[in-house]
Amino acid sequence: MPLYRSHVLVCGGTGCTSGGSDKIYDAFLKEIESFNLKDEVQVICTGCFGLCAEGPIVIVYPEGAFYSRVADSDVKEIVEEHLLKGRIVKRLLYKESLEEGQIKSLNEVKFYKKQMRIALRNCGVINPENIEEYIAYDGYKALAKVLTEMTPEQVIDWVKRSGLRGRGGGGFPTGLKWEFAAKAPGNVKYVVCNADEGDPGAYMDRSILEGDPHSVIEAMAIAGYAIGSKQGYVYVRAEYPLAVKRLEIAINQAREYGLLGKNILGTDFEFDIEIRLGAGAFVCGEETALMTSIEGHRGEPRPRPPFPAVKGLWGKPTLLNNVETYANIPVIILKGPEWFASIGTEKSKGTKVFALVGKVNNTGLIEVPMGTTVREIVEDIGGGIPGGKKFKAVQTGGPSGGCIPASLMDTPIDFDSLTALGTMMGSGGMIVMDEDTCMVDIAKFFLEFTVDESCGKCPPCRIGTRRMLEILQKITSGNGTMEDIEKLEELAYSIKDSALCGLGQTAPNPVLSTLRYFRDEYEAHVKEKRCPAGACKALLRIVIDRDLCKGCGICAKNCPANAITGQIKKPFEIDQEKCIKCGVCIEKCPFKAISKKA
Ligand SMILES: Cc1cc2nc3c(=O)[nH]c(=O)nc-3n(C[C@H](O)[C@H](O)[C@H](O)COP(=O)(O)O)c2cc1C
Ligand code: SF4
Ligand code: SF4
Ligand code: SF4
Ligand code: FES
Repeated sequence: MPLYRSHVLVCGGTGCTSGGSDKIYDAFLKEIESFNLKDEVQVICTGCFGLCAEGPIVIVYPEGAFYSRVADSDVKEIVEEHLLKGRIVKRLLYKESLEEGQIKSLNEVKFYKKQMRIALRNCGVINPENIEEYIAYDGYKALAKVLTEMTPEQVIDWVKRSGLRGRGGGGFPTGLKWEFAAKAPGNVKYVVCNADEGDPGAYMDRSILEGDPHSVIEAMAIAGYAIGSKQGYVYVRAEYPLAVKRLEIAINQAREYGLLGKNILGTDFEFDIEIRLGAGAFVCGEETALMTSIEGHRGEPRPRPPFPAVKGLWGKPTLLNNVETYANIPVIILKGPEWFASIGTEKSKGTKVFALVGKVNNTGLIEVPMGTTVREIVEDIGGGIPGGKKFKAVQTGGPSGGCIPASLMDTPIDFDSLTALGTMMGSGGMIVMDEDTCMVDIAKFFLEFTVDESCGKCPPCRIGTRRMLEILQKITSGNGTMEDIEKLEELAYSIKDSALCGLGQTAPNPVLSTLRYFRDEYEAHVKEKRCPAGACKALLRIVIDRDLCKGCGICAKNCPANAITGQIKKPFEIDQEKCIKCGVCIEKCPFKAISKKA
């Protein structure tokens, strides 16, 4: 490999790409060519660095200069100043990465300080479209090790001893699942990777596939060896075109290098992988529905048992794991199960990747050891709440989960403590909410999602969740009664108990958890016809402060509903019957005389 004096890493994750990082990459190639630096500087398009809120991001090594919010028009300056003259362009540096004139290493930046990257180890480090870079970072070494030094039983024993639990939501012990699939009778077995990822706000699996597709391919081959399977499938949603493209490139490269196909690494082990595209239905992430979808039918769940490990794809034993679960496997094989088991908490080992979104300064992709507290994530990594607002709650587990209130911020995050709080790990979406968020409205948001995504096969989910949604709509529009709250709770428990699959069984969780921690907000909506967070439009009043109003009439001119009247130089008034609460008058009033009242 040629030696370069500088490496320019341009983030090619979806967040940065949507901010124009592809143009930035092209601009670097062009400028480097025009300055004749091609033999000295290498430009690499990587996966997500994590700090998506500051994207597009460019990192230049060996200095480790961390440029954020870069535009293609900045590239010439970076090349001329930094790459040619060795002068770092300070105005483009991520502000926290510069301290007393010194560049802090990436690990010293607060966002990264408490993180530990195992599943994301290569994301933002290597070019995901180049297998040689993956190999340079110990890629396929774990596969070589299992094929040449370990028996399938040993591999399963290591996965069991590592304590790894499934990262797709449920947290089932991975090694045990591998053992079930290995022991199931039959010559034909399948390995499936669940890359459906339908949770609103979650994009961990997509980022792993975009940033490090070979780690999943390698792990699937290891799983194939461990359970005795020759064929794998990755089920990925078609709305993830970049992940699909990078996966296709990686599978083809692995085949070319003899790492997939027959006689892998000169042994008699045979394994190949195909991609299956999903149409983006949330229920298709449920394992039985996913397999039905791969078989070419409508993705509807079926009762379990039989579990996939016994009777899965086309009735054959099938091992099904999540993308992040697989991404951990090669490291466990290389560093050993004890190393992995030493990270995390007693019953939740290793790390977890979260997509940190919502009302937090540093939104992005993070990976932390299990046991990290909500406070550490929100305050230290997330950089706190924007605009000096108060932290109210964090929703984990998406529509299947619930929220953790501010009073429980010091809870260490692991599978069991989250379940004890009435929420769950889920796949790793983490939505931060501030004081302006109405918890009844949040429950309604997730329930709307569930009602839309229910496959309709069983009545509790098809009809029951719709009834729950109707009650929530009644409450947020100011027409709810105390009996409605009781009915809501009753329905929630009965749907949980009677729905056929996980979608319906977990759909009431956001309602139950908000009722548990924020019951007073429900009651304020019902008893006082008031939304304490000031978020439910129907319960808001837009009012003019008579003392502040100068009677300029600007608000009346701009009101689309003709709800404002008055005489110039006298206080104006709003007709609450006509007001549609659009907020235009608040924005337009030059004297800040108009405000929302909860
Ligand atoms: C409605 C529903 C949607 C799901 N969506 C996903 C998903 O997008 N990705 C995923 O890995 N698991 C999803 N799961 C969990 C899977 O059914 C399955 O448990 C998981 O993929 C197993 O892999 P793991 O053991 O590695 O976690 C979903 C479950 C339900 C009930
Ligand atoms: S619980 Fe909902 S999604 Fe699951 S089978 Fe029943 S109707 Fe379909
Ligand atoms: S909120 Fe909209 S509709 Fe209501 S008074 Fe103001 S501008 Fe008019
Ligand atoms: S824009 Fe403000 S100051 Fe002018 S009339 Fe309306 S409320 Fe009064
Ligand atoms: S997509 Fe670039 S940092 Fe996440």
